[in-house]
Order: sequence, then C-alpha cells, then structure tokens
Amino acid sequence: MLKPPPRYQLVTTDDGSQTLFSELFNEACHSTAGARAETRFHYIEGCRLSETLEIFDEIHILEVGFGTGIGWLETREFLKTYPHKKLKFISLEMDESLLEWSVPEAKKISDHTYQLREDNCELQVLIGDARHTIKSLPTEFFHAIYQDAFSPKRNPTLWTHQWFTDLKRIAHESCTLATYSASVSIRKSLMKAGWSVYEGPAFAQKRSSTRANLSGLMNEDFLSKLNTHTIMALDDKDFL
Ligand SMILES: C[S@@+](CC[C@H](N)C(=O)[O-])C[C@H]1O[C@@H](n2cnc3c(N)ncnc32)[C@H](O)[C@@H]1O
Repeated sequence: MLKPPPRYQLVTTDDGSQTLFSELFNEACHSTAGARAETRFHYIEGCRLSETLEIFDEIHILEVGFGTGIGWLETREFLKTYPHKKLKFISLEMDESLLEWSVPEAKKISDHTYQLREDNCELQVLIGDARHTIKSLPTEFFHAIYQDAFSPKRNPTLWTHQWFTDLKRIAHESCTLATYSASVSIRKSLMKAGWSVYEGPAFAQKRSSTRANLSGLMNEDFLSKLNTHTIMALDDKDFL
C-alpha cells in the first residue's frame, strides 16, 4: 500500500474504497459510507453524464478539488462504456503532493499543469488556488461541474456567490453542477450567482444534496422554503 502524502491519513470506507483524511482541513475527502459510491452517486449520476453523452461527442467536466483522484478514476471508468465519445476532465487542486500520490503517471507539462491521456480520456490538473486558476478556463465550456471542495465550514472560499459566479462564466448552457452539500448558505450563494437550484437526493446519512443548472425553473416550494431562512449567501468579504 502506497504511503499517503504528509499530513493525510488513509481511511477505508464502507464500500471498500479508500479516501484521505486531511489534517489541514480536519476533514476526509469523502463520506465514510463509500468514497467510490458517493462519487458515482453525486457526480456521475448527479451531473446526468449519461444524458449529456447522448447529446455531445466530447464532454467537458470540471472538478473542484482533485483530492484522491477518485472523481477522475470513476469518470474514466464510466467512459469505457462510451468508447466513441471523448472526455476532457479538468480538475483544480492546490496540493501538488496529492496528484503525485494518486496519479504518478501524469506528466507535468508546465509549472502548474499536469496532464494524462488515456484512450478517449484526457485529464488536466491545474495546481494552485482554484480562485486564481479558474480565471484561465474558457467561457461556456463545461457540461458538468463536480463541486467537491471540503465542506463550506472548513473551505468557505470555494462556496461563496463570487465563486459560483466564476463557475457560471465557464459553464455551458446545458451544464449541471452537483455537490454533496445541502447547506442553505451554499444554495443561496448559487442562487445569488444566477444558478437555478434543486434539492438533490440523499447519500448515506445526509438529509439531501444540491444540484444546479442554468436553464431550469426552480421548484416554488423549495424556493419559498429557502427564502424563509435568515441564513445568507456566503461572501468573499467575510473570509478576507
Ligand atoms: C473533498 S476533497 C476533493 C475530493 C476529490 N474530488 C476526490 O475525488 O478525491 C477537496 C479538495 O479540494 C482541495 N482544495 C481546497 N481548497 C482549495 C483551493 N482554494 N484551491 C484548490 N484546491 C483546493 C483540497 O486540497 C482537497 O484535495
């Protein structure tokens, strides 16, 4: 077994797959109920990849937080059933040591970029603070966004309305954004940035999750429930 990078501990989850616990964020990268199962549930199914693959020959996915690499590995596995389709998977990660640990075969192609090409799939990981690296990404490009930062409590700057405004710029009009978080504040951040927000299904013990897109009408009951909360959208200025 490969030793985890410094300041991480390896944790085996209930479906037998492994995740990492970060001492810096004091949080694990996945639910202990199953790292692989959670990834498939929230991102591959949550972002409706099967439907997107029916429409586009090449799909573009953005992942916020590369972590253990499971998001990439599960998505690449999923693409094996679509050998004639192409995948471009871009992930934003601040910790280079994670990448060297999880996909050592990836090539460093510039100071801040790693790349891996396998059959019909291409991975690029941009190293650095996602709030800066996102600026280099093309407008209206991504069909799916895996919003998989650590929790809003531990990693708040990747859940603010300014962050979701940046994500909106690079989202294709058909884009689905999915996340495990069901927090009212992040739902309000998404709405403030112009996303339509929906309650997503619950994984393991969580009460629900969140999905968002740019084209739909929000459910009125869900919207009025959100509006009754005094909790506000998260704002960059609160985390300076
Ligand atoms: C929950 S983990 C991601 C799990 C990952 N998707 C996987 O499949 O293993 C969150 C990741 O976000 C990264 N992260 C946190 N803040 C960041 C920032 N400002 N910029 C880039 N990456 C960040 C952390 O280093 C961590 O690897």
